Amino acid sequence: MRLHSGLLFTLGLILVGCNYTNIKGSSEDMNQVFSLPADKMSELSYGVLAEKIFIPKCISCHGNAGNINFESYGEVVRNLALIKKTVFIEKTMPKKGSLSQEELSYLWNWINMGAPEQAQNGNSNPQPDPLIATYESINKHVFQVSCKDCHNPTGSGKRVPLDKESLLNSPLELIIPGNPDESGLVIDLERTDDKRMPPAKEGYSALSDEAKATIRKWIENGAKD
Ligand code: HEC
Ligand code: HEC
Repeated sequence: MRLHSGLLFTLGLILVGCNYTNIKGSSEDMNQVFSLPADKMSELSYGVLAEKIFIPKCISCHGNAGNINFESYGEVVRNLALIKKTVFIEKTMPKKGSLSQEELSYLWNWINMGAPEQAQNGNSNPQPDPLIATYESINKHVFQVSCKDCHNPTGSGKRVPLDKESLLNSPLELIIPGNPDESGLVIDLERTDDKRMPPAKEGYSALSDEAKATIRKWIENGAKD
């Protein structure tokens, strides 16, 4: 019994030791791999990171009703260590996607600088472009963020394209202008069973109430613009 725990202890030390040098060693390498020019470093802020990474690459699953929510600065900051671990060490996130070298560099340096909310160069955060009840805005803020992983020409949802023409002419009656309650699109977004879109079983968050209300309003207004 004694020998056993002694052995485990030694084994533990070896493992901790290896881990430590690995993470430390790779951090230094990673500062090289992800180095950014000084002017880019000084523009890093929460707003820039949200626009470049958290909104397009994470909130389809880490939104409103998801696991961890990345829709606000406070929530991102609370999870920084886990973000670093899953993106850079375990490389398990983003699930079903990837970050470009530039995106990884922004994220790596922003976290290492202590995740500043404001940029060092004094630039204010980019003004978010609000979601409004037009196809163009809904496509940009909702379909391209939460649906495009599957609703694209080679994805699992390819038989249901989400361009305006296809939505308006779908045999599934996805849009009945003026009648959001009977429009298939609204029904699919608002239902709470396993047929909800985007699909919970694949890790996706339900759309926000704001997104659902805006799509309703667009259809209510005749789905014209
Ligand atoms: C396609 C869906 C999807 C996307 C996109 C996605 N995630 Fe996740 N993420 C999940 C799911 C599901 C879990 C929980 C289960 C798991 O760990 O697989 C999770 C868990 C996590 C966790 C917690 C891990 C833990 O150990 O508790 C972190 C941190 C995380 N994701 C970060 C990110 C970041 C950062 C992005 C964007 C760069 C991202 N994820 C994009 C689906 C996703
Ligand atoms: C993880 C993949 C995935 C994501 C993300 C996803 N879908 Fe789907 N969706 C599918 C698949 C698969 C089908 C079934 C396609 C088929 O029957 O050929 C489908 C079907 C649909 C349908 C038709 C359902 C019916 O009534 O028959 C609609 C509408 C739809 N999706 C809308 C959306 C919208 C809007 C989003 C984003 C807010 C979204 N989906 C996100 C995979 C996805």
